[in-house]
Amino acid sequence: MINQKPQQSESFEKGKALFEKNCVACHYIGMDKIATAPALGGITKRRDKEWLYDYTRNSIGMFKNGDSIAIELRNQGWALMNSFPNLTDKNLDNIYHFVEMQFELTENEKTVTNNDLTFGDFVDLEKLDSAEMINNSGRFKLSNKQIEKLKDELSEMAYVPNFSAKVGAISMTLLIDGKKNYISSATHGDYIEVHRSIVTQNTSLLETSDWLYFKTGEVNFDNYKKENE
Ligand code: HEC
Repeated sequence: MINQKPQQSESFEKGKALFEKNCVACHYIGMDKIATAPALGGITKRRDKEWLYDYTRNSIGMFKNGDSIAIELRNQGWALMNSFPNLTDKNLDNIYHFVEMQFELTENEKTVTNNDLTFGDFVDLEKLDSAEMINNSGRFKLSNKQIEKLKDELSEMAYVPNFSAKVGAISMTLLIDGKKNYISSATHGDYIEVHRSIVTQNTSLLETSDWLYFKTGEVNFDNYKKENE
């Protein structure tokens, strides 16, 4: 589920290019949300292929000819859709292949995220021995109490697959089972970035990229201040 690459076939790429050129102005590319036009995910299951191809080429003509679905759509109050008379069968095969594959991708990402995989599923935080923090109050070693709090906070952070973000100011060095690991905050502290070498368990549930991201949620690492033990 993490390795979502089979979708990147030639047909997917061609369909994507055609969709971006012709359809994206009105139909949301994630295929799961309404934009100025309906969401297209699952459309090949709701409509006949012949109807779909005719409608994409000439929706207005179908409405004028009294096609019952075209009339129903118009009655729902949608604005007019452009006609694309020049799209070939092959073009439309690619477009609708892309539509359904992209929809599947979007839905998969939701399940992975909703699966509630967290930092604690991948890293054995019981083996966290010490931690150093650099945030806007400087560089300091965390007290034992702070380490316990950090363990709780980190363990709950949700894994965000297929993601990437710019790294920001805060960073941490964690000594886990005698090995040094680094954590950086990304996008104004909304995420943390870690190298996958920090992972010691459930590796098969991870995507293959070197850098992994977790959502910080309510946690603000600037709330950690130097304490005297
Ligand atoms: C200018 C905006 C616009 C563009 C561009 C556009 N559409 Fe649409 N599309 C709509 C609207 C609005 C509807 C709602 C029904 C209607 O009004 O025809 C719609 C409806 C559809 C439907 C029928 C949905 C259903 O529930 O049966 C399909 C299929 C569709 N569009 C495919 C495409 C494809 C494929 C492209 C690109 C080749 C495309 N559309 C480009 C606006 C657009």
